[in-house]
Amino acid sequence: MAQAPQPNSVVRIGILGCGNVGAALVQLIERQAAVITERTGITLQVANVAVRNISRDREVNLADGVLTRDAFAVVNDPNIDVIVEVIGGIEPARELISTALANGKPVITANKELLANVGHDWWAQSDAAGVDLLFEAAVAGGIPLIRALRESLRGEPVTRVMGIVNGTTNFILTKMTEEGADYSAALSEAQRLGFAERDPTADVEGFDAGAKAAIIASIAFGARVVAGDVYHEGISGVTAADISIARRLGYVVKLLAIAEQVGDSPTVAVRVHPAMVPLSHPLASVRDSYNAVFVEGDAVGSLMFYGRGAGGFPTASAVLGDVIDAAVNLRKGTHGTIGSFKRVPVMPIDETSSQYLIGLDVEDKPGVLHAITGVFANHGVSIRAAEQEGIGVDARLVFITHLAREADVQACLSEFKKSPAVKRTSGLLRVIGE
Ligand code: HSE
Repeated sequence: MAQAPQPNSVVRIGILGCGNVGAALVQLIERQAAVITERTGITLQVANVAVRNISRDREVNLADGVLTRDAFAVVNDPNIDVIVEVIGGIEPARELISTALANGKPVITANKELLANVGHDWWAQSDAAGVDLLFEAAVAGGIPLIRALRESLRGEPVTRVMGIVNGTTNFILTKMTEEGADYSAALSEAQRLGFAERDPTADVEGFDAGAKAAIIASIAFGARVVAGDVYHEGISGVTAADISIARRLGYVVKLLAIAEQVGDSPTVAVRVHPAMVPLSHPLASVRDSYNAVFVEGDAVGSLMFYGRGAGGFPTASAVLGDVIDAAVNLRKGTHGTIGSFKRVPVMPIDETSSQYLIGLDVEDKPGVLHAITGVFANHGVSIRAAEQEGIGVDARLVFITHLAREADVQACLSEFKKSPAVKRTSGLLRVIGE
């Protein structure tokens, strides 16, 4: 294990990756150096930065010998005290983190994909080895959510965590809502402005938010939830018409990650999907690429965390907080403990309940409404509100249900797809927050 440094000692940092976040971290460490030393007695020294391409132009000036192509040499170097992994992706990040932990080095990572898949093994390994594995930046970028869940809310009976944890999709939905843009135009703008990747799948299909939801559920409930347990649905099927109906009814459409405890049982439900949020709910006012997470607990009531969920400096800010924590712990010869994770049932999406908005393009003739409400009745789905938009060939029925089981709603949709009265199902959104 790395040596515990003495007060006023230097803690040597090895940074793996020098993209947006790595470069911002190097600059932030330099900018905050005096304050960090004054408050903690520690001098953070960026000893190595491992990159794929040494000759690339970068926004940071690094002393000779700091840049290296050999990331494995960094995690195996006995003179490096703390490892920061900001490469992203699966390999070599997975093997580098495993090696660093096996070498007894504290690790800071922003890698949600890895944490959502193998985090539980690493957390057990780091607890057993007595080293820190910190990951504030992995969920909601610069927002201090993980530390709040892990430390401040450790004794809180958390019942639900619900958040906008993907900035790209929030930007796209905001454009669709406020400018009436359709999905592909809003996506193109997000790509042009650098919010969305050229291949936007991870963001727009909900994979990124799903990984974050698994980490949130794990920490909030002490439960062993991995990415594969999380139902995820993205925003590529959300239409301008869905958004305008939602708005007319007093809602805004958001991509939500939801992790909740099911009643008094140990079961948790974890999912990501677009949802209609009432305009009065605090999450409804979270615009553009901002993130926000709403936490509900029996004792504390409701809390909301808001801020930048991505970007070099916001993410580096979260990483630096973790680096300082790990450095201070190392100096004291101590470490944080994440604790154990229970194996709990994760409720399949079919068994979850919600209110739903269902849009149906229909034949405008006698008996159609009767046929449709018959289907709802047969599956035990109760209607709270219904209206018809348009007439003749443009007729569209819009229903909002009372609380209904997902499986029952899906059974209704299957029947509607076969029904001659229904030309097409033109929208399905879950309604949240009431
Ligand atoms: N691509 C993510 C987002 C940031 O758009 O929020 C990194 O998780």
